Amino acid sequence: MKSGEGNREQWNKAAESWVEFVRSGQNYYSEHLNGPALIQMMGNVKGMKVLDIGCGEGSFARFFAKAGAKVTAIDISEALIQAAIAEEERHPLGITYYATDAADLHMLQSQNFDVTYCYMAIMDIHDYAGTIAEIARILKPKGRLVIVLAHPCFSLWRVLNGKQVSGWKTRTRRDGTKEYLYNWTSNYLQSHSYPFEWKHNRLTYPFTTTGYHRPLSAYVKTLTTHGFAITQLDEPQPTEDGVKAHPPMAKHYKIPHSIAIEATKIPAKRR
Ligand SMILES: C[S@@+](CC[C@H](N)C(=O)[O-])C[C@H]1O[C@@H](n2cnc3c(N)ncnc32)[C@H](O)[C@@H]1O
Repeated sequence: MKSGEGNREQWNKAAESWVEFVRSGQNYYSEHLNGPALIQMMGNVKGMKVLDIGCGEGSFARFFAKAGAKVTAIDISEALIQAAIAEEERHPLGITYYATDAADLHMLQSQNFDVTYCYMAIMDIHDYAGTIAEIARILKPKGRLVIVLAHPCFSLWRVLNGKQVSGWKTRTRRDGTKEYLYNWTSNYLQSHSYPFEWKHNRLTYPFTTTGYHRPLSAYVKTLTTHGFAITQLDEPQPTEDGVKAHPPMAKHYKIPHSIAIEATKIPAKRR
């Protein structure tokens, strides 16, 4: 899939299922692994102007608004933005939402935000370079961008030309439980799109979106090209509570599920 239009349609179709999934507390990877990594890297946001890129139904926008930030949030899916606005109307937190492609933030002033984050969304965004260029424009000098993304080196599932090119090698133990042995990958250096099937039983209905695989170096080169320096990097592990409640998450003590990157915009005169 080449354009953001297809992504918009896919996420609009997925919206009802996604909202129910997140709001019913079933997104345990977010609760016990990726969410804590985002919150830690964001740090204290009190009094800051914060932008959420790919906000979905808005749960992290609400989290950071409650933590004292002045939050603006965008997503390509009108249906998800409507769900976020409905929640804002029920429990106002002063969040401003826009339905727009992340690569087109024309409604936002240049050099206006202290921190931007893109949580579990950059690998769903077709024009990631355009998105990073827009973020560089709207951030103040020394502003920060925090990205938490599915780890490109260790994909859950990736398909190229109809063939699986990465995933987990598992075996079944005598007691019938699954053992996760290792994560394998091929065609790592080829950037490509692939269909991502959301079909686990925690969803009210299954749906398919488009994922975009890019090697880590592609993200880092794009960030540095747009005047960012990498100032933190983490490969988060699940919480103990998460592993207790969901034992298969223990595989992420061996192999990371995600990577968290903090990039800081270097003031122009220092470049
Ligand atoms: C996996 S969801 C994550 C949503 C939210 N960050 C969360 O964790 O609940 C990925 C999000 O990226 C959004 N998205 C995909 N392409 C986009 C684009 N080009 N611009 C803005 N948002 C986009 C989707 O609509 C979807 O809400």
